[in-house]
Amino acid sequence: MLEKLTKWKSAMTSEQKSKDIDDINVPKHIAIIMDGNGRWAKQKGLPRVAGHHEGMKVINKVVRKADELGVEILTLYAFSTENWKRPKTEVDYLLRLPERFLNKELPTLMEKNVKVRLMGSVDGLPDHTKKAVLKAVEDTEANTGLVLNFALNYGSRFELITAVKEIAKQVEEGVISATEVDESVLTSHLMTAELRDPDLLIRTSGELRLSNFMLWQLAYSEFWFTDVLWPDFNEQHLVEAIAVYQKRARRYGGV
Ligand code: FPP
Repeated sequence: MLEKLTKWKSAMTSEQKSKDIDDINVPKHIAIIMDGNGRWAKQKGLPRVAGHHEGMKVINKVVRKADELGVEILTLYAFSTENWKRPKTEVDYLLRLPERFLNKELPTLMEKNVKVRLMGSVDGLPDHTKKAVLKAVEDTEANTGLVLNFALNYGSRFELITAVKEIAKQVEEGVISATEVDESVLTSHLMTAELRDPDLLIRTSGELRLSNFMLWQLAYSEFWFTDVLWPDFNEQHLVEAIAVYQKRARRYGGV
């Protein structure tokens, strides 16, 4: 009885909180730095990889809620170019997660019309990771719902350098002139070329930095930081972040 009441109360809170959101002004693109898996595990006396496993489970909840609220793009920082510095066992574990996640969730993603997308150096990933993510991209290619953009082996500085090199080559070859290089040219050479910039950035675990994530694309995004560790992040935190976003006035440098 008590359990039923608690469940009912928590459902009410979630529903109530969703009502705090204005359906019209939902951020169309939310990017998340999913941080704090290691600390979550440590607090529980578990190995770090247990935190990553728990973190993987949160993705499902967040995708569902974002979709339900009308978010169009959800970008998740799953593995950075700097994450290779971690112990091999942890790296191996992390790079098995996309496969594990997709093996289980791909049918549901299909059902929900979710389109899986990648940004990062896919060629640098182990074959098993590459195979799983490319299959998901291919299978969901025609889907028209929420875009689930996984940043895997992604680093923003590398992305920018690659873009600059491509543009320099085009200038050298006379395809465009140096004076024609503007924001839209650079944007079109990024791994997010066909995506709008994030409206909202969420970072969990209390760290207040960007960690080489979407440095160009986040120029005018609103930031929401929380002390909540990623494995403890839930639908209500997402709603809270959106509610805060909706109270902010975005001026893009104007008044
Ligand atoms: C940062 O926490 C988190 C990561 C480096 C990995 C994030 C990956 C997931 C949440 C799962 C990915 C799953 C799929 C399906 C792509 P941390 O290890 O740096 O935590 P700490 O700062 O507390 O040590």
